[in-house]
Amino acid sequence: MWGGRFSEGPDALFRAINDSIGVDWRLVRQDIAGSVAWARAIGKAGVLSVGEVKELTAALGALSDEVEGMAPPVDSGAEDVHSWVEQRLTERVGDLGRKLHTGRSRNDQVATDLRLWTKEALEERLGELHVLRAALVELGAREAGTPLCGYTHLQRAQAVTFGHWALAYERMLARDAGRLRDALARTDECPLGSGALAGTGWDVDRAALAQDLGFARPTANSLDSVSDRDFVLESINALTLVGVHLSRLAEDLIFYASGEAAFVALGESMTSGSSLMPQKQNPDALELLRAKAARLIGLQAGFAATVKGLPLAYNKDLQEDKAALFEAMDVASLSVRAAGVVVSGVRVNEAAAKAAAEGGYTNATDLADEMVAAGVPFRTAHERVGALVRVAIEKGVKLDELTPEDLSEHAPELDAGVLGRLGVQASLARRVALGGSSPDRVMKAAAAARAELDAELEQTS
Ligand code: ARG
Repeated sequence: MWGGRFSEGPDALFRAINDSIGVDWRLVRQDIAGSVAWARAIGKAGVLSVGEVKELTAALGALSDEVEGMAPPVDSGAEDVHSWVEQRLTERVGDLGRKLHTGRSRNDQVATDLRLWTKEALEERLGELHVLRAALVELGAREAGTPLCGYTHLQRAQAVTFGHWALAYERMLARDAGRLRDALARTDECPLGSGALAGTGWDVDRAALAQDLGFARPTANSLDSVSDRDFVLESINALTLVGVHLSRLAEDLIFYASGEAAFVALGESMTSGSSLMPQKQNPDALELLRAKAARLIGLQAGFAATVKGLPLAYNKDLQEDKAALFEAMDVASLSVRAAGVVVSGVRVNEAAAKAAAEGGYTNATDLADEMVAAGVPFRTAHERVGALVRVAIEKGVKLDELTPEDLSEHAPELDAGVLGRLGVQASLARRVALGGSSPDRVMKAAAAARAELDAELEQTS
């Protein structure tokens, strides 16, 4: 490919560090598509005759049949997928194959191939996220009225519903989907026709070329085009945030499924047993979701570090973009799909979840609100309920088990009837404001999320 200037062949270790075909073979379809479009573009620019364009595109068509399901040809001698395609093409059509690279560089070629690949991959991730979000919405609707203890600082805080919890994660993933769509929009530019760095020397209609390859537009600056990997980093960043959210979901469920909480039982098919302890059911898939998020963070940091010191324009460091991006896509895909199965298999243990939601004086704020309704300033109410909580702790009872005498001593404004309004359902029912955890509100939130998911499907179809 560049032998003219050299008198010696490459060292075996040079090949070992330099060859990328084992990794970038995933781009073979995109490389063939890019080559077809390039043949047409330089045909229009007068480099190839109409007949030559026809012959090249036919041969590339046959090549795309040949590579279907093919393992990476690591012993072909080609260093990367781009050289392999050209080499194989030349074997098929002879010298004509040697004309295809006119005005093109592997620098604009690889940037184009990878953007084509990334667009498809991001669409697939969006589809997988959609399925997971739908599972969370179903769980949210099913458990809209099921009490769950809500925590801050991992201390019992206020009752929420299990449905509200599920929909919280759906919102995180909805934002992640938005970030993936943003990344997709910025990926949707065609670098082909930028040459090695300075722009192609032939009169190529880059707008037509971009359109031919299904891009929204051509890139604007040739130096930037061949060295920009923002789209890789931005995609990994968005996937990392998906991983971070799934890790938090996993952490919650691991705790909820613990013997201490026992708020949920996990589906058996996504858990494992112990080789020694016969009674165990371990949440391995969830633990691995946590660990996979760490891998994504590593890929993100690693690739950002790869790019940060690079002078313009192309440098071979950039070849490592694919290993990082492919792994990030694979890890995120597996994580999202596995999380969907776990979520669908969650069964709530209502009694335990409700008992925890009722414990820890989670209704203290409600009692303060009752005092406020009777005219007491909130700060005063807060202090008095604090005193009532102390009394209850000393007596070892719940707030609603206090005596009318306890109540009149600390909160004379309240009638004893308030003690009957301190149950968990009453606490939940109060939280009707937008975004709150009342069962009614959670049902509405589930319906809104479902409508959003439907609308997103409509936009993509
Ligand atoms: N395999 C290379 C990559 O993935 C293709 C570009 C090579 N360009 C070059 N100037 N050596 O980045």
